[in-house]
Amino acid sequence: MANTTMRAIVAYPKEPGRVEMIDVERPALPAGHVMIAMRDVGTDATDREVIAAEHGGSAPDGGDYLILGHESIGQIAEVGEGVTGLNVGDWVVATVRRPDGCPNCRRGESDMCLWGGYVERGIIGAHGYLTEYVIEKPEFLVTLPPHLSRVGALLEPISINVKAIGQAWSIQRRMLWEPKTALIFGLGSIGILAGMMLRQRGIAAYLYSRSPADSPKARLLRDVGITYIATSDVPDIAALGDHIGRIDFMLEATGAAPVAAKAMGIVQPNAVLCLLSVTGGSAREEVDIAAVNKHLVLGNGVIFGSVNSNAGHFREAVQVLDGFEKTWPGFAERLISRRVPLDRFREGLEDRDEDIKVLFEVSAAE
Ligand code: BGC
Ligand code: ZN
Repeated sequence: MANTTMRAIVAYPKEPGRVEMIDVERPALPAGHVMIAMRDVGTDATDREVIAAEHGGSAPDGGDYLILGHESIGQIAEVGEGVTGLNVGDWVVATVRRPDGCPNCRRGESDMCLWGGYVERGIIGAHGYLTEYVIEKPEFLVTLPPHLSRVGALLEPISINVKAIGQAWSIQRRMLWEPKTALIFGLGSIGILAGMMLRQRGIAAYLYSRSPADSPKARLLRDVGITYIATSDVPDIAALGDHIGRIDFMLEATGAAPVAAKAMGIVQPNAVLCLLSVTGGSAREEVDIAAVNKHLVLGNGVIFGSVNSNAGHFREAVQVLDGFEKTWPGFAERLISRRVPLDRFREGLEDRDEDIKVLFEVSAAE
């Protein structure tokens, strides 16, 4: 092989804030694995939290760095001995979490890990995808039809929503529940993709966020039938119920703990709130917990947290993404605000208000 090294974007868990592009050894391909040539890698708030050492961290193999990136799309570059069903050139997306030996992990649900001994590629204890070549086992890969490859990096955030929304719907089998209206907190890729999924289910979706109502990303929502509510129009979260009326399902995806706390106080009778932001650091706020508790008890309210997604959710996400392209052709591509080459990684990691999803272009398709 001509090149024995490859470029990688890495964080240093023991040095919060430090990110570098370094040369690392190009991995060998063991039997039973495939080598993936990474094409696009998405970034999100989790990457910034890992860099800041507010979440995840811990470098693998006794080293001092962690290769970042957990939202990926790549093409099979080489197929290891004994691997069937995958071919050079296939488009694949890798899941994020790798199991420990707990009962949930053993049945393929490492997203529901009981023991907490899992690792997550690009986040904690295992290298991620912000590099040129990645080695993986077929069981952690999902193939994508080529027509979805341009937006394939959205598969991971979609899979997060597939799990979260699926869980909410399973929980609500506890009674007669005919959801008609949903409220999403947060105008990021998770929030928008959730809104699109709910629209696909025929649910009226409202999305609440700080961006001005006439900002380009808020205006984008109209094209997929999501109603935007700016905080400047309804500053008090407690007033959202009066504004919208009956709300059956809420999803918190702002990353702001105070928003999550306020959302807990407005769960309507028989409704469910899904908490989806990993809030790093610490935030203190005075909450009337007696009132929140009483309100939840008297209303049979459910609040639950959801994290990660397994291969099954990724497979369902392929169907969801395909459905998006059929209903709103070309819209998913508009969620990609910027495409940045690997060597401009500092720019790519900047948190800009107008961004929805930023992708690193690691290499071009062959
Ligand atoms: C990722 C998940 C991961 C979670 C917690 C999220 O950004 O999408 O796969 O489990 O962070 O680390
Ligand atoms: Zn486990």
